[in-house]
Amino acid sequence: MTYDFDKIIDRTGSGDIKHADLLRDFGRTDLIPLWIADMEWETPSFITDALKLRMEHSLFGYTKTPANYWACISKWIRDHHQWEVREDWICYIPGIVKGIGMAIYALTKETDKIIVQPPIYHPFYLTPRGCKRTVVWNPLKEIVKDGKLVGYDMDFEQLEQVCDEDCRILILANPHNPVGITWPEETLRRLAHFAATHNLIVISDEIHCDMALFGHKHIPFASVSEEAANCSITFSAPSKTFNIAGIVSSWAVVPNDDLRQKFYGWMAACELNEEHLFAPIATMAAFEHGESWRKEMLAYLEGNINFVIDYCHEHIPQINPIRPQASYLMWLDCRALNLNHKQLLDLFINHAHLALNDGEMFGIEGRGCMRMNVGCPRSMLRQAMRQLEEAIRSVKSEE
Ligand SMILES: Cc1ncc(COP(=O)(O)O)c(C=O)c1O
Repeated sequence: MTYDFDKIIDRTGSGDIKHADLLRDFGRTDLIPLWIADMEWETPSFITDALKLRMEHSLFGYTKTPANYWACISKWIRDHHQWEVREDWICYIPGIVKGIGMAIYALTKETDKIIVQPPIYHPFYLTPRGCKRTVVWNPLKEIVKDGKLVGYDMDFEQLEQVCDEDCRILILANPHNPVGITWPEETLRRLAHFAATHNLIVISDEIHCDMALFGHKHIPFASVSEEAANCSITFSAPSKTFNIAGIVSSWAVVPNDDLRQKFYGWMAACELNEEHLFAPIATMAAFEHGESWRKEMLAYLEGNINFVIDYCHEHIPQINPIRPQASYLMWLDCRALNLNHKQLLDLFINHAHLALNDGEMFGIEGRGCMRMNVGCPRSMLRQAMRQLEEAIRSVKSEE
């Protein structure tokens, strides 16, 4: 390996939320933080060098978009996901959650409804709610084999039942957060057909798309059919893959002319489509120089995921980790511990001294599950798993 993913980075002084909000969100600070979705690896030098180079010039005035910014994004998508994206289909957005909010304001009215499929990344329902839109729930179907949860699927029969004529947008996580699914082409095509026949816009959030694992492949929603291209807004970014979430650098792709004019027109009116100075620099550095880092990072990540699965299998059989098909978030089914919600949080926080995301924040369907961020040095993960094993032993022996 060329890059050192074992290196522990001290984030003190960086103001990172993962540490800064421990007290606010978990009530104590002596926790290994494995929650909010950024990684513990330093931003690679091909990105920091590009930023530093620009910093050497001491004037940061209004700055023109680099001529090859859109071409660079379009090439990355073509090379990695075999999707031909016209440069004029792409537009900068100041963050994906903000993009979801802007699309809701630009394209729906207050009486319209937004469909989400829990367990799901919580802003998918919080943002529509905050925009005063009604959220319609279409929970994923659990796939159970030999009595064990092994994954989830989209529930089309239920979708047909919950979707009414006020539903205007369906928000899709592709790949899925928190359960790490790279959706199969057939599922995406079926969803596109459903959307086309029900007058729905599909917002496909593809922020985790460059981290497919274990031979799985990301398929862009808009690429699967004409129907998909016509009803979709795709959002993506290099922020998760290259660990640069703080350098807000995301974009939308809208192939359909009417939808694009409506959405991009709204954003342009407020100049929300204008990227800040550092976004193209970081993005282009990542895409032009980051491929070998990305591949090494994913190989290390697969090692981390295997480590957690093996550890649970050998030492904590009450926890069933679902192997993600993409990204660094692992869904742990803890229901065999037979703890209620309060007891489960108490186990992780006060006994194991770990900060994970509570499954219920992704919808009630996540009850009894926890989301663990494994984008960190293996030694950190090893320590976390030991603490968890010990905590479970002590809690269970008190029963
Ligand atoms: C599926 C998904 N979408 C969006 C985001 C956040 O993106 P942004 O910071 O660009 O709003 C995350 C972060 O965890 C995510 O997992």
